[in-house]
Amino acid sequence: AVMVGRRVRSRRRWWWVVRVFDEFEEAASTPVGRLRQVVDAMAVEMHAGLASEGGSKLKMLLTFVDNLPDGSENGIFYALHVGGTNFRLLRIQLGGQRAILGHDVERKPIPQHLMTSTSEELFDFIALSLKEFVERKGNNLQISQVRGRDLGLTFSFPVKQMSVSSGTLIKWTKGFSIEDMVGKDIVECLQKALSRRGLDMTVAALVNDSVGTLALGHFYDKDTVAAVVIGTGTNACYLERADAVIKCQGLLTTSGGMVINMEWGNFWSSHLPRTSYDIDLDAESQNPNDQGFEKMISGMYLGDIVRRVILRMSLESDIFGPVSSKLLARFVLSTPSMAAMHEDDSPNLSEVAKILEETLDIHDVPLKVRKLVVKICDVVTRRAARLAAAGIVGILKKIGRDGTGGITSGRIKSGKSGKMRRTVVAVDGGLYTSYTMFREYLNAAVAEILGEEIAPYVILKVMEDGSGIGAAMLAASNSAQSVDTVQ
Ligand code: GLC
Repeated sequence: AVMVGRRVRSRRRWWWVVRVFDEFEEAASTPVGRLRQVVDAMAVEMHAGLASEGGSKLKMLLTFVDNLPDGSENGIFYALHVGGTNFRLLRIQLGGQRAILGHDVERKPIPQHLMTSTSEELFDFIALSLKEFVERKGNNLQISQVRGRDLGLTFSFPVKQMSVSSGTLIKWTKGFSIEDMVGKDIVECLQKALSRRGLDMTVAALVNDSVGTLALGHFYDKDTVAAVVIGTGTNACYLERADAVIKCQGLLTTSGGMVINMEWGNFWSSHLPRTSYDIDLDAESQNPNDQGFEKMISGMYLGDIVRRVILRMSLESDIFGPVSSKLLARFVLSTPSMAAMHEDDSPNLSEVAKILEETLDIHDVPLKVRKLVVKICDVVTRRAARLAAAGIVGILKKIGRDGTGGITSGRIKSGKSGKMRRTVVAVDGGLYTSYTMFREYLNAAVAEILGEEIAPYVILKVMEDGSGIGAAMLAASNSAQSVDTVQ
């Protein structure tokens, strides 16, 4: 293959690379018509996932969260967030009346080896980190004084919940793989590790990061009905009517509603603009045929899609010089590096040159080639942001908040009846909070799909660290609450 590559390279130069790029751009394109098909497919899959267990690639998991924080919560709460690149420890002090009197967040990278070790090792690391955190932040509180204190645990993986404070891991995503953990109760694992470390705290809420984000969104603004996370992975949750959860007939909740964790990272539809690079990325991943939507959208993968396009161009032309061996390594080009190239506004694209050199060992590429790299980043990010936007509108459609109820006598209708209501979607995750171009593309696409009459009613709000803070709030508001399931 290398020989062929070399021979071809001497013939095929710039014009060939332009062709490779054009093909890629075309395959990855997301005209609004295609996005609307994705919207419809999302809404259809949501119905299917709610109708029966396994009815869709969307798991539509019950969270047993039926009451969201409303701002009246009071007291000091701790939360842990496990699931992304970083592990987070939080302590918040709530003062009622929507007041967060104080909050401390510490981030620690999860040591790589723990992501593939044993559940005991992982939770031991977590418990020890929490103990140290409590000692540091507890204002001279002795460990013995935190007894019984409620703790929120954000666990950002698909979990089959038995209650708001217990649940078992369905499968790993995002590069984690601790086999003995699958099927185990996460809270039990943590409680055991906590008691091994002599820490007497009780997990009062086990939540997905999207659910934590929804909780924080709702704490600030009661019109918040859905939340989306776009970070290492991607997911969404929303407030559903209990009677719409067909697969769980007779679900009784105090509010008549329940938050559903969609696990939309696993969404799939033939309308998605899939390229040959996506197919290769999937085939070489730890979880082939899984998390297809996530692999086109989230931070773990975007940089790697760009790398694959550059690799192909490098193999089939000489525009990047000799093929760098670094280019062959999966995930060498991280999404933050890709974002930095994409957002390089220096006239000669010096940041692009620097990143190509430092991360990919590609040197001295002319400006024209650097511009091409920026364009590749643009295609990848734009597609990701627009697909996430379509997903969001899909949720709105499912709950009758996309305005397709029609417009009668000047009033925009939503769903079967009633006026179009102000609708807030909370968003957390680094791609949205820290990658400006991504955020702008996403916001613009939501407005484009909804159209100018409906768009003003839909507001996307950044909830930084919502995933963790929200879990602490749910620990506060759900500790004394129960949900009954009648089968
Ligand atoms: C992955 C996980 C999901 C999580 C998301 C964002 O998709 O499966 O549970 O919410 O990443 O972190």
